[in-house]
Amino acid sequence: MTQETDNQEPWQEPWPGAAGPEADTRRIFLKRAGGVFLLAAGGLAWRAYDTGVFSVGQGAAYEPWQTWRGEGPSEGPLALVRAGVLAASVHNTQPWLFRVGPDSLELLADPGRHLGPMDPFRREQHVSLGCALENMVLAAGAQGLKPEVEFLPGKLAEPRAEFPTVAAPEVVARLRFTPSRRDISGLYAVISRRHTNRGPFMAGRGVPRGTLWAFNDLAREDQSLRLVLLEDGPRRAAFDRLTVAATEAVVADPEMIQASNAWFRLTPREIEEHRDGPTIDSFGLPPLSLAAVKMLPKPEPEKTHRQWVAATRDVQLATAPLVGIIAVRDPYERATALRAGLFWQRLQLWATAQGLAMQPMNQVVQVIDRDRQLRRDSVLAAGLAEILGDDRWQATLAFRAGYPTVAAVPSPRRGIESLVLKDAPASSLRQADQIAEQSGFEPAPELGAGIAIEDGPAR
Ligand SMILES: Cc1cc2nc3c(=O)[nH]c(=O)nc-3n(C[C@H](O)[C@H](O)[C@H](O)COP(=O)(O)O)c2cc1C
Repeated sequence: MTQETDNQEPWQEPWPGAAGPEADTRRIFLKRAGGVFLLAAGGLAWRAYDTGVFSVGQGAAYEPWQTWRGEGPSEGPLALVRAGVLAASVHNTQPWLFRVGPDSLELLADPGRHLGPMDPFRREQHVSLGCALENMVLAAGAQGLKPEVEFLPGKLAEPRAEFPTVAAPEVVARLRFTPSRRDISGLYAVISRRHTNRGPFMAGRGVPRGTLWAFNDLAREDQSLRLVLLEDGPRRAAFDRLTVAATEAVVADPEMIQASNAWFRLTPREIEEHRDGPTIDSFGLPPLSLAAVKMLPKPEPEKTHRQWVAATRDVQLATAPLVGIIAVRDPYERATALRAGLFWQRLQLWATAQGLAMQPMNQVVQVIDRDRQLRRDSVLAAGLAEILGDDRWQATLAFRAGYPTVAAVPSPRRGIESLVLKDAPASSLRQADQIAEQSGFEPAPELGAGIAIEDGPAR
C-alpha cells in the first residue's frame, strides 16, 4: 500500500473496481490534482475575500447608511447632517463641511474636495452641495424644524491659484430653523434607498407618461430651472452621440482623466481609508462580472477607458428609455448651481420611491466646462444648445432614467464626526464674503455689494 492511500482523503477515493499499478498512478494523480485544486480554490477564496467580493456594502464606510436616522427627534440639527452626507455628489467627492448651531446650520464647500480639470469652475461641486441641502431640508421637516434656506450668491470662478491650492472652506448656504409640526415626507423615507445606478436598464420598459408629468411638475416648483426629457427621435440620438463624444474627449484629455481616476477606490482597504469616491461595486455590473473584475489584476488604463466609452454607448445609453437635461439660465451662478442640486436630489428621491433607477451622465457638460476653461470653441456646447433649442437656457446636469436590471448598492460615506466644524455658525451669511476673500477664489462682483438673501432684498 502506498503512502498516498494511507492518508487517503474522501476526494481521493479509488474509482470503483480500480486496482493494480495503473490504479495507483491514477490515485497519485488524483491526490496531486486535488491538492492543486485546493490550493487554487483557497487562493481564489482568499483573493475574493481580499478584494471585497463578499463584503459589498459592509464596513465602517457604509455605516452612515444604517445610522442616519440618529437618535430620534431630540437629536436636532445633527440629524440633518446625517441625512445630508447621504446625498449624491460628483465622483462621490462629498465636498461638504458643516457648522451646526441650535437654530441654524451652515453648509461649507471643502476646497480640497474638488475635481480640478473635471470641474474647473466648481459648478458640479456646488450642484453636489445642493444635493446635500435637499436631504437636510427633508430631514429638518422630520425633526419638527421648519427650514429657511439662504444661498450665498455670486459667480463661480475658476480658482485663481493652481488646483488644488485653495485655502479656507467657504460657506455656501445656511439653513435657519424654527420649531414646527413634524413633517415626515415620503422623500425623506427613501433617502437611504437612493443610489446611482450604472447598470443596464430594462430596455423594453419605458417610463410611464404619468411619471414624466410628475418629473415636469417637480421641475416647475423651481422657476430657475427647466427640465428637458428625451425618449427617442433626432434630439435623443444627438444627445447619445454627444455623450459618447464627450466620454471620448475626457479619456483623451490626460489632465481630466487623471483627476477623475484619482477618486476611484478599487480595494476594500482604499474604501476604508478614504470612505469616498466611486467603487467597483458602484459600476452596476452583474454579480459574476463584478466578482471577476474585483479579482483579476487591474487592467491597463487604456483598456478601462475603452470599456468606459463602450459601456456608455452600448449599455447605459443603449438601454435607457429616457434621458433628461436640467437646464438653467446661468450654470456658473452659485445659487443656481445649488438650486440645481436640490432639484436633482429631489428628482432622484422621487424616482427611487417609484422604483425607477437613475444615473447622471454629465460628460457633455463637463467637457463644455473644460472648453470654457481652456478658452476653446466648444462643439459640444453648440450641439447641446441645438438640443435645448432656446439659447436662454444652458445645461447643468444630464441623466438617464429607467427600470433597473441590477440593484444599485450604497457607496462609501465619511462619518459626520470629521465633517462638523467645532465653531458655531456665523450670525449671518454676510461673514461669508470675508471667508470668500481669504479663500483664494476670485471674489464675484456681486459680493462687493454685500450678501443678498435669495429672493430677498440685498443687505
Ligand atoms: C453634479 C453631479 C454629477 C455627476 N456626474 C456623474 C456622471 O457623469 N456619471 C456618473 O456615473 N455619475 C455621476 N454622478 C453620480 C455620483 O458619482 C454619485 O452621486 C456618487 O458616486 C455617490 O454615489 P450615490 O449617488 O450612489 O450615493 C454625479 C453626481 C452629481 C451630484
